[in-house]
Parts: sequence; structure tokens; C-alpha cells
Amino acid sequence: ADGTGGSDGAAGDGGVAGVGDIVHEGLRNLEYRGYDSAGVALVGASSGLTVAKRSGEVDNLTVPDVPDAALGVGHTRWSTHGPPTDANAHPHTDCAGDVAVVHNGIVENHEALKAELADHEFTSDTDTEVIPHLIEEELAADSEADLLDAVRGVEDRLEGSYAICAVREDDDRIVVARRGSPLVLGRDADATFVASDVTAFLEHTREVTYLEDGDVAALSADGVDIYADGERVERGVETVTWEADAAEKGGYEHYMRKEIHEQPEALRQTIAGRLDVDGGGVDLDVAFPPGFLADLEEIQIVACGTSNYAGRYAAQLFEELSGVRATVEIASEYEFGAGRSSDRTLVVAVTQSGETADTLGAVRRANAAGARTFAVTNTLGSTVTREVDDTAFIRAGPEIGVAATKTFASQVATLTMLAVAIGRERGALAAADARPVLKGLRDLPGAVQQVLDNEDAVREAASEYGDSEAFFFVGRELGVPVALEGALKLKEISYDHAEGFAAGELKHGPLALVTPDTPVLAVLTDGARADETMNNVTEAQTRGAPAIGCASAGEEYGTLDVSLPVPDVGLVEPLVANVYLQLFAYHVANDKGRSIDKPRNLAKSVTVE
Ligand code: AGP
Repeated sequence: ADGTGGSDGAAGDGGVAGVGDIVHEGLRNLEYRGYDSAGVALVGASSGLTVAKRSGEVDNLTVPDVPDAALGVGHTRWSTHGPPTDANAHPHTDCAGDVAVVHNGIVENHEALKAELADHEFTSDTDTEVIPHLIEEELAADSEADLLDAVRGVEDRLEGSYAICAVREDDDRIVVARRGSPLVLGRDADATFVASDVTAFLEHTREVTYLEDGDVAALSADGVDIYADGERVERGVETVTWEADAAEKGGYEHYMRKEIHEQPEALRQTIAGRLDVDGGGVDLDVAFPPGFLADLEEIQIVACGTSNYAGRYAAQLFEELSGVRATVEIASEYEFGAGRSSDRTLVVAVTQSGETADTLGAVRRANAAGARTFAVTNTLGSTVTREVDDTAFIRAGPEIGVAATKTFASQVATLTMLAVAIGRERGALAAADARPVLKGLRDLPGAVQQVLDNEDAVREAASEYGDSEAFFFVGRELGVPVALEGALKLKEISYDHAEGFAAGELKHGPLALVTPDTPVLAVLTDGARADETMNNVTEAQTRGAPAIGCASAGEEYGTLDVSLPVPDVGLVEPLVANVYLQLFAYHVANDKGRSIDKPRNLAKSVTVE
């Protein structure tokens, strides 16, 4: 998805000099969101359309001097389709160079559209580029059509999510459209603005209008006309009261909480265009060599920290769904695994950043041993993608908080799809058995949203139990990696002592630590042998420990001190429970005034072994 989590900023005005500077400044204001290339398009009455774009930083982008520019659009791109090159940066143009478009989101049917546009010349690897060419076709098909008509016509042909800003030579409007990705309008005395985030133009105006899904709007020097279903509509004006720093975080006090709340959208991007629920299939755009999967003996997952726990979750699914033995190694301990790997081993490196030195070290060992290597990462163009045979991107968007949150969910979702894909291709998984898993993935964003909507219950639990001496997290099967992850999240941001266990292990030692001052947090969902786990929780409660359970909705565990309902999504239910644990960690740490986004002693990307 080009521009996923990136940003588009635009300014339209009545000929006031400095449009290029305004757009450039808007892009700087959005730099915090993460990006790897930037570009602008400016339109002037006599100068026409001028485009400049390049990979790298916004400050290295030379915005052309176009004195008569009356409107402009800009974009920072965070790559997920096509590497971060100059050519792949936005804006993208049509064949004639008359139309320029910036886009956030994913055009899921871009390959089919590209095939339909066979007589057009494409210059990038992006899905976005089909949009200006489609606009070009709409304009060519009807000489009466203007940019607004063309964008409306194109909308019907796009599948996926988008926020689009389009400009055209000889047109004094910016036409924008929204479906699934945010767009916000603003207006001051001299100019009209639109961006993916108010931060882009907050120094100009605080009076803003949020577009709704399906809205198309035309911005000009005179203001904005908004249309929904072909009819003119009015949308309310809101006043932004946050300061710029808070606005960068979308009104959240910390990136971590913002990123926890971004999970439904991140997951939508992760699965977009990849699931065929009815057919029981998955398309990850990966082709293994003929015969490789049939001969596969072992899948080894190598990763660190949260990514390792995502790998542990996935290993169980790999075994269950693909019928191949799956093991998980801490990347820095990948010694014996490398020793037994061969050309019949698939080594899957899970790494958000794609730059973790320990994980890269494991990949190099695996390559040296002749294994086939596969990366599951969030970062296109990262080192790991250059060192492995195949890559699947998790498309979670940039993650700023040191504590990994939305990327864990998107890693597990991507790995689950990989497990289904391998199982199906090996003939080990029937379509009928794949369907419920894929349905769970499809329903995952909505289920996570329900948990987020119940945040107050977690906030209360954090407030009641946050000052405890220590915290124990337990689960079984798929609940184990979630318990480990829950403990890691709490310890890294609150600095409290927290440990995760397989619930059955409590009685083999850790129970000695349990007191009324050590709450037990339990995963009590499908895929986590809830009833047996509850027996272990009861053992802890008998020793006085309070118990907080994330339990499948409708399951009654009346003895829990706090019960947090988890919607029914089958095998990915423990992943939904994890969102409660993220929120618990966040609120405990927040109540203690911790440095949540940058915990002491930790770095987002650990590039030393
Ligand atoms: C988790 O919150 C940490 N940020 C850390 O454990 C992280 O998952 C680990 O360092 C691996 O990073 P990677 O996914 O970028 O390889």
C-alpha cells in the first residue's frame, strides 16, 4: 500500500505565492509518521503541472520554484508495494503528464486494472499509479468530463481503501476522495487545506471538517464542495483543541496507545486482497520453487522479543494447518537449529524493523546452511528483505512506540495466512478446514475494535491492581505466547516485575511467588484450553491472588475478579485477548508516569548482537 500510514497534504489557494512552501511544510509536519520518500505536484495557470519527487527525507526534496502555483499536493510514502525509489514516490501521473495523484491505502485490484490499461505507460511498481491512468481514461472517454467527474468515475473501479488527492493541469481545483483512509479539510482566510492528519496544517487553521467514507470533494480558492452519492452534502466543522505535539499522536497522549487503537485498520491492511474465505485460499504473492513444499521437513522460525512471541503463536498454527514440524528459536540462540537445517528447511525470520542484528545473524546462518529463507516484516527495503529468498509484508504502517503493539497483531495475522497458504499448497489442509481460520482473520479487525471499545474496564483494572508487587500472565497453547507477550509489554513500559508462563507450569515452581499482591492475568479463550487454564488460575486464587481473565464472550467464570470478554474469532481469539493485555500494560505504566514511548534502556531497533 503506497502511503499506508504516510500522509498527503495539499493546499489550494487563490494565487498566493508560496504554495510549494506550504505543502513542503505540511509534509515536514507529518514526518513523525514515518516515510521513505516524498514528492509534490504544483499547478499554476501558466506553468501547468510540475512534479518533483525522490526517495529519502522531506528536507532533501527540492520543491520546484513555481511562482504562479495556485494549488499543490504533497505526499510522504511509506513503502509496502515496490521499494522506496524515486519512481515509486508519489505523486504519480498519467501518460500525458496532465494529471497527478497522491494516495494512501491499497488498490487491491491494481493488477487487474493494470491489465485493462495495457496501452498506458507505467513507470512505477506501485498500485497507486493505476489511478491517474484511470482518470486519464475517464477524461478521454467524455470530452465534457472534468476532474471531479473523472475521480467519481474511477471510484467505482477501485477495490480497497484509499484517500486520494488529484490535480490536473488547467483545473483550479484539488479533487479528493475518501474510502477507508482518513482525510481532513481546513480553511483559513487565504487558503483551503486537505490532509490525512490535521497536524499537516495546524499552524494555518484549527477549524476542520472530517470527510466520511464515500465522500468526494472539490477544493478551490472559494472553498470546498463535498459530495456523497452524487449529492452535495454539508459536513460539520470541528475545532481542534490539541497542541501540535498531541495532534501528531492523533490526540492520544502516547504513540503506544495510538498504535494500539490503530490495530483494526492495520489488520485490515494486513489482510487486504489476500483472503479468499469462500475458496479457502490465501494469496501472499509468494511462489515457492516446484516441489519445495512437498519435500519440506521443518519450518524454523527465528525472531527476537515480541516478534519471537508472534513466531511462537504461529509455530502452533504451522503444525496444525500445514502439517509440517515447526520450531521457534530465539534468533540469538540459533545454533542447533542452524546445525540441523538443510535445503528441506524453511527458515522464517519475523522482524518488524527488518534490521534486528540477532535476526539477521540467524538468517545468514540459515542461508549458509542451505535453508530456504523467508522474511515476515513491516519494513520494505529493510536489510532482511535483501538477504532472504522470499518476503511477506505485514503492512501494519509505521510503528513509533518502542513497545511493539500493532505489529504483533499484523505479524500473527500474516503468519497465519502463510500457514494456510503452505497447508493448502501441500494438500495438508482442506478448503473446508481453512475457511473458519480465514473467517476468523476476516473478522479480526472488528473483534479488536470491540476490545478497544471496552478500554474503560481495563483502565479500571489497571488502576485497582497496578501497584501490585508482581504480575503473572498465564495461558495454554496459543495462550502461552500471548501470556509471554503480555508480561513483556508490562515489564518493558511499567518497569514492574512481570512473568509469563504456560498455565500448567504455575504449580511446578512459580506458585511459590503467588500472594494476594501478585495478580494473575489469564488467557481464557478458544485456542487456549480455557477450562484447564481456569483450573490453574483457581489454584493461584486459592493462594490469595486476584485474577483477571480475558475470556471468550459468553463464557462465565464467575470466580474471576475481573472478566474481560473476547469476541468469537476462533484460532485468532488469543490475539484479540492480547489487546486487553496491551491496554493493561499501557494504563499501569501511564498511571505511574513512565516514559511509555521510549522506555529506559530500550531501542526500537536493536542493531547490535
Ligand atoms: C517489543 O515491544 C520490543 N520492541 C522488542 O522485543 C522487539 O520486538 C524486538 O527487539 C524485535 O524487533 P524486530 O521485530 O524489529 O526484529
